[in-house]
Amino acid sequence: MQRNSGKTITELIKSRINLTMEIIRTIHDMTEFSSRQRGRGAVMGFVPTMGALHEGHLSLVRKSVKENQVTIVSVFVNPVQFNNPDDFKMYPRTEEEDFRKLAAEGVDAVFAPMAEEIYPDGLDKPGKTYELGKAAEVMEGIHRPGHFQGVARIVDLLFRIVRPKRAYFGEKDFQQIAVIRNMIKNEGIDVEIVACPIKRADDGLALSSRNSLLTPEMRKVAPEIHATLKYSVDYSKEHSVKATHDTVVEHLDAIPGMRVEYFEIVDARTLAPIEEWEESPWIVGCITVYCGDVRLIDNITYRLPN
Ligand code: PAJ
Repeated sequence: MQRNSGKTITELIKSRINLTMEIIRTIHDMTEFSSRQRGRGAVMGFVPTMGALHEGHLSLVRKSVKENQVTIVSVFVNPVQFNNPDDFKMYPRTEEEDFRKLAAEGVDAVFAPMAEEIYPDGLDKPGKTYELGKAAEVMEGIHRPGHFQGVARIVDLLFRIVRPKRAYFGEKDFQQIAVIRNMIKNEGIDVEIVACPIKRADDGLALSSRNSLLTPEMRKVAPEIHATLKYSVDYSKEHSVKATHDTVVEHLDAIPGMRVEYFEIVDARTLAPIEEWEESPWIVGCITVYCGDVRLIDNITYRLPN
C-alpha cells in the first residue's frame, strides 16, 4: 500500500469495512467535523491512542460512547514521544483492524493522520517546551528523556483540534495522566480528564500493544509482574516501604529474561516517592520491567483514601 496516497487507502479501507464511521486524515477535516458537532450542541468524548487496539483501549472507548453523544478516537503513533528509534520502528501497527473495532463500538470518527500532517516542519524541529511539573521529573521522566514533552505536544495539539468536553485515559499509564492534568492546567485547556481502570488478560498481565512483541517464553512469565505486585500489597501490611520495594525488585529480577528498570512507591497525586506508609492516604507502586527486549509498565494501589 502506498503511504502517500492517503485518500485512496482511506476509501479502500472504508469500502472493505463498510462503515458509517468517518475516517479523517487531515487537521482541516478534523477541525471541521468537531466544529460541526459542537455547532449542533453535541457533547464530545475523545480517546487518544497509538492504535494496535486491545480491550484496554476499547474499555475507554466504550465509556466515552456511553457518556457522550459523539465519540472521536485518534490513532497516531506519535514519533516525538519515542526516545528509542527501534521502539518506534517496532511499535505494532494494525490500522484496518483498529478501524473495524472502533466502528463496531459505535465510534463516530477516527482521526488517523500521517506524521507529515501533524509535524509539517519535520521531526527534528523542536516544539515548545511544556511546563509539566514535578510529576514529569520522576520514573518515566528519568528513564525516557523527552517522552512526556512528546506526549504533551501531541495531546495539546489533539485537544485543540478536537476540543472535546471529556478525554479518556487509562490508569495503566498512571504517570501520564498526572502529567496531562498538569499540562492542561498550565495551558488553560478546559477538558475533563476521565481516568479509567487497568484492563488485564485473564492471567493478570496488563493489556498493552507491546504484549504482541513478547516471545512466547516471555509472554508466559510476564504475568509475574502483576502477581508480584499483588502479593506485595499483602506484604506491605506487615513491612516497611523499603522492604516492600526490595521484595518486588528481587523477585522479578530473579526471573530469567526479566529486568526491573525501576519500581517506585509514590504518592498517587504528586508521584513523589514516599518512605513511610503514613506519609500519604493514596499510594501506588509504579513499575517498568524489561521482558526480553520489550518494555512493559504496570502499577498497583497500596493505599486508597476512604
Ligand atoms: P496508547 O499506549 O495507545 O494508549 C492509549 C490509551 O489507552 C492510554 O490512555 C492508555 O493508558 C490506555 N490503555 C492502554 N492499555 C490499557 C489497559 N490495559 N487498560 C486501560 N487502559 C489502557 O498512551 C498513549 O497511547 C499515548 O501516549 C497517547 C496518550 C495516545 C499520546 O500519543
